[in-house]
Amino acid sequence: MDEKPIEELESSELGTKEYWEKSYETEIQNYRDHGDVGEVWFDEDSQLRIIRWIEKQEALICQDDPIIDLGCGNGMMLVEMAREGYSNLTGIDYSPKAVELAQAISKDQDVHITYKVADLLDKSNVTSLGTFKVVHDKGTYDAISLHPEDSKSMRQIYICNVHQLLQTDGLFILTSCNWTQMELVKSFEEHFSLHQVIPTPSFTFGGAVGNVVTSVVFKKK
Ligand SMILES: C[S@@+](CC[C@H](N)C(=O)[O-])C[C@H]1O[C@@H](n2cnc3c(N)ncnc32)[C@H](O)[C@@H]1O
Repeated sequence: MDEKPIEELESSELGTKEYWEKSYETEIQNYRDHGDVGEVWFDEDSQLRIIRWIEKQEALICQDDPIIDLGCGNGMMLVEMAREGYSNLTGIDYSPKAVELAQAISKDQDVHITYKVADLLDKSNVTSLGTFKVVHDKGTYDAISLHPEDSKSMRQIYICNVHQLLQTDGLFILTSCNWTQMELVKSFEEHFSLHQVIPTPSFTFGGAVGNVVTSVVFKKK
C-alpha cells in the first residue's frame, strides 16, 4: 500500500451544517409548492446500482435486517429500498430540515421509515442509534471531508463512529465523488477491510481510466 499521507480536500461550505439547513429549507418549500423531492446526490443511477447490489446479497442481507442511511437528506434512497421490500429502515441527518423533508416524503409515499436528527460526529448521538447490519453513506463522508475546521480529525471521528454503528458481520457501503477507491481503502484500513467494489461507469482521458463516483463495500476488521 502507498505510504504517502492522504491529501486533505480544500474546505467548502458543503462541509457546514448551515449550508445544509439552508438548502433543505428551500427544498421543503419546493416540495410543498411543486411536489419536487429535490436532489438525489450522484443521480438516481448510482442509487439504483447500490440497491440492485444489495438485492443480490440475499445470503448476507435479509429484508428485515436493520439498515441505516447516514446523512439521508430527502431520504429517497430509503424510499426506494422500502418499495423493494426492506422493512427495517432508519435515516439520520444532522439537519432538522432534511429530516422534516424526508418525513414528509415518506408519509406521502406511504412507506414506513424511521428518521432521526443525529450528528455523526457526536459520540452520544451515535451511541443512541444502536447497531446495524447495513450502514449506507452516499455523499456524507464527502461532505464531512470538506469540513472547514480540521477535516482530518472529523474524518477520523466519522470512521470510528461508523465502526461502532456496524454489526460484526455487517456491511458498510460508501459512495464518494471526492475520493478514489485507493484513498478510501487507505483512509478506512485501520478499522475496515475492502469486501467488494460496486462497479460504476468509468471514463478514459489521455489514456488513463477514471470514475466519476466510487462505491465501495467494507467489512469490519
Ligand atoms: C451530499 S448530501 C447527500 C444526501 C443523500 N445521502 C443523497 O445521497 O442524496 C450530504 C448529507 O449529509 C448530511 N450531513 C453532513 N454532515 C453530517 C453529519 N456530521 N451528521 C449527519 N449528517 C450529516 C447533510 O445534511 C446532507 O444531507
